[in-house]
Amino acid sequence: MKLAIDGGTPLRTEPFPSGKDIGEEELALVTEVIESRQLCLYGGEKVPQFEAQFAQHYGVKHCTASTSGTSALHVAVGGINPNPCDEFITAPITDMGTIIAILGQNCIPVFADIDPDTYNVSPASIEERITDRTVGIIPVHLFGNPCDMDAIMEIAGKHDLYVIEDTSQAYGTMHKGRRCGTIGHIGAFSLQQSKHITTGDGGLTITDDDELGKRIHLFANKGWPNYSARGARDYPLFGFCYRMTELTAAVGLAQLRKLDRITAAHNWAGDLLTERLQGIPGLTPPITQPDGLHTYWLFPLRMDEEKFGMSNERFAEAVRAEGAPCSAGYIGYPIFMYEALRRKQVYGDTLFPFDSQEYGSDHEVPYQPGYCPEAEKALDEMACLWVNQHFTEKDVQDMAEIVHKIAENA
Ligand SMILES: Cc1ncc(COP(=O)(O)O)c(C=O)c1O
Repeated sequence: MKLAIDGGTPLRTEPFPSGKDIGEEELALVTEVIESRQLCLYGGEKVPQFEAQFAQHYGVKHCTASTSGTSALHVAVGGINPNPCDEFITAPITDMGTIIAILGQNCIPVFADIDPDTYNVSPASIEERITDRTVGIIPVHLFGNPCDMDAIMEIAGKHDLYVIEDTSQAYGTMHKGRRCGTIGHIGAFSLQQSKHITTGDGGLTITDDDELGKRIHLFANKGWPNYSARGARDYPLFGFCYRMTELTAAVGLAQLRKLDRITAAHNWAGDLLTERLQGIPGLTPPITQPDGLHTYWLFPLRMDEEKFGMSNERFAEAVRAEGAPCSAGYIGYPIFMYEALRRKQVYGDTLFPFDSQEYGSDHEVPYQPGYCPEAEKALDEMACLWVNQHFTEKDVQDMAEIVHKIAENA
């Protein structure tokens, strides 16, 4: 069969399911907020309810709602209260939000290379990159695929490090029967439009540690403990103003009720598609660690151009021509190769904190090609499909047939 990209007939003309489940439930709760005329969390009900219900859903004691996934990570770092120039080891394939949270506290992002099977940070590479300045690890459960948390927690325990799980893309993801986001000291989630559940923008930070929970809450509210806006004013901590509004929390409460259904649907469709794409020479479907549960925020495929017979870019074009969504590469390069990091110019025309006396001349982070070679290679060879909570078996089958058709003609 001639490929659609070469003038053949597209395998599918009906669009694949897309979009979010946002409707009546969200509208009803938002209407309640509007009618209450109380839009800020001071004196409001929805933000405290959303925090309490999300904490309960994840079986932890504390949750702080904030304005984005980036702020959810920043309050986690702020709650730890590191010294300037302390290092956090994180993933080279992630969103800039992970890095902003580190640099925002004048700390140094250090990058560990990935496990080429899962694209998640490799515990061996994390251990190699620990220095006397390391205070924490921020593993990212990329695309909804669990990191090897047992090994990461073992390393953290050995070196006395904090672990903040970046769970932005990984609602419902499990590692050996435990929910990702609850295995490290802190878990941070994004509610941005593309995520499993969304409030447009927003973030959630969870922890079971009372002291961290208290500091994270303060850090998200200018360091001000006075949520009722009454009594004497005091600021025991430095912090930012990252408060979620009542309107956002109203949407979040309605979305939370749908969370398990949405992640179960992603897991079902993604696992089925993985199964149907086995055995194609030169093409690797997602690989999940034994006892891991993947919730497929995206569905990455990797192609060995020589064995598969096509580059990832041409493959992505060919998939789109057949009628399915697909993009080549995900973020293009490892995150440290983007201009803002490569130049190390964060504040004005200085190179602070990288060249500061505090950091010292015996530390250096080489944000250049070659720093994380497995991550570079994976991004060069990757193309991402996606599944949606409304995929039927026919949708999965059509998507699999598109990939098989391309593979046969590659
Ligand atoms: C892995 C990861 N970390 C952090 C973020 C930052 O989240 P937000 O865009 O909500 O600030 C995102 C979202 O794109 C993400 O995917």
